[in-house]
Amino acid sequence: MSKVKIGKSQVETVPLGLGTNKVGGHNLFSNLSESDGLETVHAALKSGIQLLDTAFIYGKGRSEELIGEVIANFPREQVIIADKAAHDFSSGEMVLNNNPQFLKQSVDDALKRLKTDYIDIFYIHFPDKETPKSEAVGALQELREAGKIRAIGISNFSFEQTQEANQDGYVDVIENYYSLIHRDEEEKLFPYLRDAGISFVPYFPLESGLLTGKFNKDTTFAESDPRSKDAKFNGEAFQKTIKNIDTIRPIAQKHHVDVLQVVLAWYLANPDLTAVIPGARNAGQIPGIVHALDVKLSKEEYDLIDRTFTNR
Ligand SMILES: NC(=O)c1ccc[n+]([C@@H]2O[C@H](COP(=O)([O-])OP(=O)(O)OC[C@H]3O[C@@H](n4cnc5c(N)ncnc54)[C@H](OP(=O)(O)O)[C@@H]3O)[C@@H](O)[C@H]2O)c1
Repeated sequence: MSKVKIGKSQVETVPLGLGTNKVGGHNLFSNLSESDGLETVHAALKSGIQLLDTAFIYGKGRSEELIGEVIANFPREQVIIADKAAHDFSSGEMVLNNNPQFLKQSVDDALKRLKTDYIDIFYIHFPDKETPKSEAVGALQELREAGKIRAIGISNFSFEQTQEANQDGYVDVIENYYSLIHRDEEEKLFPYLRDAGISFVPYFPLESGLLTGKFNKDTTFAESDPRSKDAKFNGEAFQKTIKNIDTIRPIAQKHHVDVLQVVLAWYLANPDLTAVIPGARNAGQIPGIVHALDVKLSKEEYDLIDRTFTNR
């Protein structure tokens, strides 16, 4: 499988990864099964996925621990671990913290939970209000020099914050919200990243299932399902997305796949995206995700999807 490089670092990975907020992320999702989480990560690595996207806040360390259990059974160099920190609970309540000392301690603690010697990509998960961005990134540069991390990432940083963070040219990758229906970063951030040689990894690529094609215009969500209160899954916005997804269906039929694979193939073909990290709830969803690597969209198909979702 062909690989991509993360920014200016030496980290290379298959561009299709796995988001793991449903692996041990009990504080984010209800009714998660840890054995499902373990099996999901195992199935992903067995299927050729390398990049595992985790964070301290996914289960306050539990996602990292479960991933540590699974990767112990694989050659370490076969796995690319992307981890994140910024959520600090030491005062009793959650505050965002980018203090150099906090970031260094977070990496040391994460290494223990992952039971490994290095983290391939380490992201500052969210910017805080106090720490100068270049100081926070400077701490990650020291961690890189110490061999504890291999690439430097930032996440949920605005265009202006990204420029500030990359003052010394240390940033390799940014992970922000981006999907076919959420294209805000295209205007200002992407041109900057291209010039600066910084990779971009979008989160929520499947819009929490909305872009898999498994819903139709009559779908409703139970009141207990958080999607019932999410504007994207209701009213006009939902109907518009469902209509746009109908444009993808003939393309999927032509390639003998489902909408999900075409959507992932569109991200994989997008020159502004380096890797894509769909989340999965169980191991049964992994083959559907991995199958996206077999879909090669023609330029006409790529452009049609692009135009449809931007209303161009
Ligand atoms: N940096 C950040 O601040 C940040 C924020 C959010 C997320 N993330 C990362 O981004 C990753 C992706 O986000 P996400 O997982 O929340 O959302 P997502 O990738 O947009 O959607 C994942 C959902 O898609 C559905 N799905 C996946 N494979 C499927 C298949 N084969 N068939 C049918 N449905 C399928 C599942 O929905 P069902 O649940 O309906 O089965 C799954 O839960 C996260 O895991 C996390 O690593 C990062």
